[in-house]
Amino acid sequence: MKVKVAVIGAGGFANMMHFPSLKEIEDVELCAVCDLIYERARNTAEKFQIEKVYTDYKKMIEETAPDAVYIIVAPHHLFDVAFFCLSQGLNVFMEKPPGITIHQAKRFAQLAEQKGTITMVGFQRRYAPVMVEAKRRIDERGGMVHCQANFFKHHIGLPPYYEGAVDLLTCDVIHSLDTLRWMAGEPKKVKSIVKNNFADYPNMFLALIEFDSGATGILSTNWTSGKRIYSVEMHGKGIIAFADPEKEAVFFKDNSEEPEILKTQEAAGSDELFKYAGFYFENKHFIECLKEKKQPATNLLDAYKTMEFVELIYASTF
Ligand SMILES: NC(=O)c1ccc[n+]([C@@H]2O[C@H](COP(=O)([O-])OP(=O)(O)OC[C@H]3O[C@@H](n4cnc5c(N)ncnc54)[C@H](O)[C@@H]3O)[C@@H](O)[C@H]2O)c1
Repeated sequence: MKVKVAVIGAGGFANMMHFPSLKEIEDVELCAVCDLIYERARNTAEKFQIEKVYTDYKKMIEETAPDAVYIIVAPHHLFDVAFFCLSQGLNVFMEKPPGITIHQAKRFAQLAEQKGTITMVGFQRRYAPVMVEAKRRIDERGGMVHCQANFFKHHIGLPPYYEGAVDLLTCDVIHSLDTLRWMAGEPKKVKSIVKNNFADYPNMFLALIEFDSGATGILSTNWTSGKRIYSVEMHGKGIIAFADPEKEAVFFKDNSEEPEILKTQEAAGSDELFKYAGFYFENKHFIECLKEKKQPATNLLDAYKTMEFVELIYASTF
């Protein structure tokens, strides 16, 4: 049986990553799309052959009765929409961050639990094929000893995200915190540095972390570096993996000089960014969880823990 999906928000990101992913998943029936801007919803509907077009998401939900709703709107526009959908007992996929404050994320998680809905937050790096394979190889040798998450962008001279409606750490650096949790467990002790580089808002976040698993971790992120780079290091027993989910994973093991290189396109079996970057696989995970009536790995309760990690970084500066 097909899973009936309705989407709220037909902006650039949804069109680039989520609509192509959902379109390729056989078990999905994309039944309706809604955007405040009618032309956007209509153009998306034409491109992905979606029958129904709306500008009012409440009307869309009432008329189409979907099995799940995707909410892909700007973070500061998320709360009322997601609160309504969760209140209706709907299964919800939302993009990161799950709210612009930890209070919003907590409210979502509480409501989802009360209503027993299946939820997911878009932390696609956990689902990117080279990342999955790198972690599998570390786990095979007894698990993570140490890990590092790097995230750099070139954001010099630009205003903060959404004119400052949400801080950079919560909005974007959160990907690295989520990946660290995925690699090593829950953070136990943190020492961090938060700095403004060439800007009047925080745009560099560094931290040394000890996890409850006993593993250690490093966060190294800066929005005034010369290029967008997202990468991780995973250290296990006699093995190290350097992975960029959009490029490749490079493995060294047992003192060998020869690296083993796994290209991301090869791991994903596709040259499409929406596939090898992890979006297709996170969407597939959500749909499978809906069918099996179980919670996805990055459900709202889990994402709330990543929001707690955000708070911990701010609270642990020295
Ligand atoms: N996972 C990632 O790596 C990643 C990358 C980029 C963006 N994102 C996330 O994707 C989300 C969307 O980003 P974007 O850049 O596409 O935003 P956008 O502003 O371009 O698109 C959002 C769309 O939602 C519509 N919208 C807003 N409120 C609505 C409502 N109440 N009803 C119907 N439509 C409504 C807007 O009209 C707009 O077309 C954000 O949460 C962002 O954080 C995630």
